[in-house]
Amino acid sequence: MRSFLGRDILSLKDFERAEFFRVFEICDRLRTFAENRRNTDLLKDKTLLTAFYQPSTRTRMATEAAMHRLGGHVLGFADPKMTRAGDFYQESIKDTVHMLEYYADVIAMRHFQQGAPAEAAKWSSVPIINCGDGWGEHPTQVLTDLYTVLREKGTIDGLHFLCIGDMRMRTMHSIGYALTNFDCEVSLISPPEMSPTDEWKKELRSQNLRFREVDHVEKAISDADVIYIEPVVQADYTQSRVERGKKVGTTPSNYKVTRELLLKKGKSDAIILHSLPRMDELPPDVDSTRHARYWEEAFNGVVLRMALLALVLGAVE
Ligand code: CP
Repeated sequence: MRSFLGRDILSLKDFERAEFFRVFEICDRLRTFAENRRNTDLLKDKTLLTAFYQPSTRTRMATEAAMHRLGGHVLGFADPKMTRAGDFYQESIKDTVHMLEYYADVIAMRHFQQGAPAEAAKWSSVPIINCGDGWGEHPTQVLTDLYTVLREKGTIDGLHFLCIGDMRMRTMHSIGYALTNFDCEVSLISPPEMSPTDEWKKELRSQNLRFREVDHVEKAISDADVIYIEPVVQADYTQSRVERGKKVGTTPSNYKVTRELLLKKGKSDAIILHSLPRMDELPPDVDSTRHARYWEEAFNGVVLRMALLALVLGAVE
């Protein structure tokens, strides 16, 4: 297995099966600090810089919280408008990263342009962690999700994943790539205008992922061990920021998971993951069912980033 020391985390396309389990092993080792709300000094000599060019609640703060839990230092920006990249100068990724690399030992970046973190990695002497790039990928989210599945189900192999939502979405791309490393079946459900691209499907097929496309959640939910749902009423991820308009659409029943549907057709032990934020595709009354695991997923988001930071900064090997 390749070392994580100094490594960029840009995509799950290049993650190997053993590497998933290595990350999850470190998660198990470090999670006790987060569970007990204690900090350790594992990264006391290291600094994280968060460069977020797009809004975030969870990813940025979970990554920063993870660094604090490990005793490290944190700086960064959450509003690019207050940097030279977001004003008159439109400073390039190259010039910006040439500065940021002097300020920290690892850079966590979210950007509205697909490939921006990979571009940053070309110019940075410190590791870049992709925290979501346009429609591209969201590797730390999906590592969090699969770690949650492993903890909740005891396995990832042998499970049927039902992925509902916009298949252009970065989480969907990353989970597709990730699942090629496991013996899983996958059902994909999306509105026609948000359907998987031919290129992505070709990549998944070339890695022998068994998947099918379905048009209504009712036709597949009874097979699902893991329900992985995302909004279909959502923002354009290629924009730096999208304000909510006066009119907001509603989610057709094809792409919704309700309490009633779970009761009528869901597996008794199915679990639901949602990276959040949600719209109306997952009504809040599902939260109190035994199927909901998205709050555990959110907690695991801190643990997962603790593990990644510890690995790429060489605090564990
Ligand atoms: N899950 C996720 O990426 O959430 P944020 O956009 O709030 O970071």
